[in-house]
This record gives sequence, C-alpha cells and structure tokens, in this order.
Amino acid sequence: MHQSMCLLVCLDEFCAAALPEMTEKREFRAIKGTRDIRPPDSALWNWFEQRAREVFEAYNFREIRLPIFEETDLFARSIGADTDVVGKEMYTFEDRDESSVSLRPEATAGVARAYIEHGMHTLPGNVKLYYIGPMFRRERPQKGRYRQVYQIGAEVLGQSDAPAIDAEVLEMLMVLFQRAGLALTTLYINSIGCRDCRPKYVDVLRRELRNIQDQLGADSQRRIETNPLRVLDSKLPEEQSIIETLPRIADHLCAACRQHFSELKDELNLRGMAYRENWRLVRGLDYYTRTTFEVTAEGLGSQNAVCGGGRYDGLVELLGGHPTKGIGFAIGSDRAILSIQDGGQAPKLPGLGVFVAWMSTATYPAAVRIAGKLRDGGVSLELPPEEMKFKKSLGLADKLGARYALIIGEDEVASGTFTLKRLADGEQKKFKENELLEYLESERRV
Ligand code: HAM
Repeated sequence: MHQSMCLLVCLDEFCAAALPEMTEKREFRAIKGTRDIRPPDSALWNWFEQRAREVFEAYNFREIRLPIFEETDLFARSIGADTDVVGKEMYTFEDRDESSVSLRPEATAGVARAYIEHGMHTLPGNVKLYYIGPMFRRERPQKGRYRQVYQIGAEVLGQSDAPAIDAEVLEMLMVLFQRAGLALTTLYINSIGCRDCRPKYVDVLRRELRNIQDQLGADSQRRIETNPLRVLDSKLPEEQSIIETLPRIADHLCAACRQHFSELKDELNLRGMAYRENWRLVRGLDYYTRTTFEVTAEGLGSQNAVCGGGRYDGLVELLGGHPTKGIGFAIGSDRAILSIQDGGQAPKLPGLGVFVAWMSTATYPAAVRIAGKLRDGGVSLELPPEEMKFKKSLGLADKLGARYALIIGEDEVASGTFTLKRLADGEQKKFKENELLEYLESERRV
C-alpha cells in the first residue's frame, strides 16, 4: 500500500500508538507549498473575488460549488494520464473503501462531470458557470507557485461553438483584470485545431522533431513520443532557436478551424481588445481543442501566467455525456493578487471604523447598547471587553488603525451627548446617540 494511504487507513492505530507522545509540546507549520492568507491580505482577496463575482454575474454566469475531491479517473481521463498535472502532481490516495480519489488539481473536469450528472444539457441556452476555490498540485514551490493554489474560473457549456462565445469569455476576463487594476497584462491566443486536423499536425511535428532530436534536451526528447506538442512549451534557452524553425499549426489547421480562429480575431477586434498570437501556446492539459489562451502580467518573474484557458469541445462526450461544446478559463488568484500588490494598484480597503473608549463600569451598558446599534448599521466597531484607562484605550484604538474613537464617560452618558474623535487629526465632534450612525454613514460615503 502507498504510504499516504496507509496513514489514512491506519489513523486509529496511529493515534493509539502515539498517545503518550501526544502530550509533549510540538510546534506545527503549514505544509510546504501551502500558506495562510491572513488579514489584511485576506481583505484584498475578498475584494478581488467580489469584483470577479460582479463582473461574471453581469455576463450572466452563476456560481457552482464543486467537491474538493473526485474520483482519480475523472482527472486522468479529462486532463490526460500523460500530463504533468496527472502524472506527477496530483494528490491521490486510496479511500477507506479502496477507491482511488484525488484532490482536484483543477475544476474544468469537475464542471463537466456535474454538467452530465445533473442533465444540464436540458437547460435553456448555454450553461455559464463560475467557481472560486482551492486546487492542489504537487509542484516545486517558488514565488507565485504553490501546492494549494486558488483559482477563479468560468466555463460555458452548450451546443454552440460560435467564436462570439470565445470572444465574450475573453472580454469578461480582461474587463475583470482591468477593474481589479492588474498591471500590464497581455492576452495571448492560439488555435490548436480539432480532432481532425491536430493529429495530422502532430505527426508532421513528430517527424520533424525526430530529425533534430539530438539537438534537444532530455525532456523534449522524451516528449517527441509521448506528447510532441509540449516540446513547443519548452523554456530551455538552448532549444528556443530550434523550436522557431518547427512546422506551425496555423499552416495545418483544417478549413473549419482556420475559419473559427479568424472569426474569433474579428470578434476580438469588434470589441476593441488587444491580443497577441502565440503559435506555441499549446497548454499543458489534454482536453483542449481550437482556441487556447493565456494572460501574463508583468512583475511576476517566471511564473507570470495569471490565467489560462481554452475550448474543450470533446470533453463532455469523453466523460459519457452528449456531444457538447465548452470553453473556459481559470485565473490563478495567488498570482493575480501578487500582481495587484506589486503594481501598487491595491485599493485602500476600509478597516476598523470605531473604537469605543468606555470608562467606568457605570458607562458599560450604554457602550454595549450604542455598539450594537452602530454594528447593526454596518459600522465595523471594536468594543473592549474590559475597562481600560482612557489613554491606553486611545493608544490601542490608534494601533488598531481605527478611524474614530467614540468616547463614552459618565458625563457623556448623563448628558446623552457623545464625542467622536477622528484619530488621523484629533478633530472632535459631539453627537446625540441617534445622530451617530447617520454621521458615520455620511463619512463612509466620502
Ligand atoms: P492552468 O493553466 O493549469 O489551467 O491553470 C490556470 C492558472 O492557475 C494558471 O495560469 C496560474 O495562474 C494558476 N496556477 C496553476 N498552477 C499553479 C500553481 N502551482 N501555483 C500558482 N498558480 C497556479 C487550468 O487549470 C484549466 N482548468 C483552465 C481552464 C478552464 N481551461 C478551460 N477552462
């Protein structure tokens, strides 16, 4: 049995054996390639995800929430058993009933499975879905590359493969990047043909690669037989000039694929969208047909792809569904957020609004009451759980980054008038209890 499977199955025995040592102190750290997304960064993540939801819903996409793990075979069939993602990077384990399950390395396969399982082909029009969540790939961690990676993806499934669908998906993606302030993005597009024309091109490519194989590195040499298209993806500097001389798929597309790609470009032009063609953009997952695309952002180093996607017209059928067309993308949120931060485009998000500086137990009931009202009105507010000296209270309010301190002393409670102190400049204003919320709301709008 595989070691990780053994751990899962034998957990009870493990706990029993380990019990005496469990009382000894031991520190834990997040597993390599995973991390905690903490405040204040988590606010930027929520902000970005919220922008995505708004943009996607404006294009009539609706959210689907998928399981984090699925049958291993779903990924092997969809993504391809010979790909790096399935062959080297999946977290796979044997469940207690001995079935093989894997943490999802991506979500397109799960969307296609759900589409078939719930008979979504009977829904009117195209089915437009989006998802937000973690994926798992056992890659070598580095800047912008994690083992738990977060994606925001969108997929369109249905009967039509009109290039206008591809163009609308790309428009939506670039609108989101623009609204989120992603610095200097470039959209690359390509067509990798269909079931008819691609195998013929792959044969031509393989033949040519065999002729020049001694000029290639070990990885590319192996790929000549397993997956020659992946040779085009090589980043090895010494292979670049050789790859430039290889036959290009554009010269081998069938008439229908050529027309589809040409119409896609017309559609992008119609929308005034900037793009670059990249004939080497083949993508690392097997399900793609025709349109493939990637978006890169500056300042991310070698891991600069913030989004990848393409058309996958045969996938649903391959998984036992009706013939269905599909296209979609996934944004790597980790990289998108890095790019927003590095580009200095991160919005200033509202933090703590009010710190309640209450003094003496006699004022505590008023402090609880007013805090409740302001929180009900949507104000982010901190109410210290224990009495504090006034100076200490203001000091903490400052350190917490509160915008205001609300001063509640015995005089204030007696007079029903409370002081709001703006911490940035010390300006103080007095308000009746029922005026506080209105004032804070008007300030928030500024
Ligand atoms: P992908 O190109 O494998 O495509 O991943 C999409 C994006 O996820 C990448 O461009 C990158 O930003 C991010 N990403 C992937 N792996 C990592 C990692 N280890 N660390 C950080 N970021 C990463 C897919 O997953 C397809 N399912 C996209 C798709 C949807 N195609 C059609 N529909």
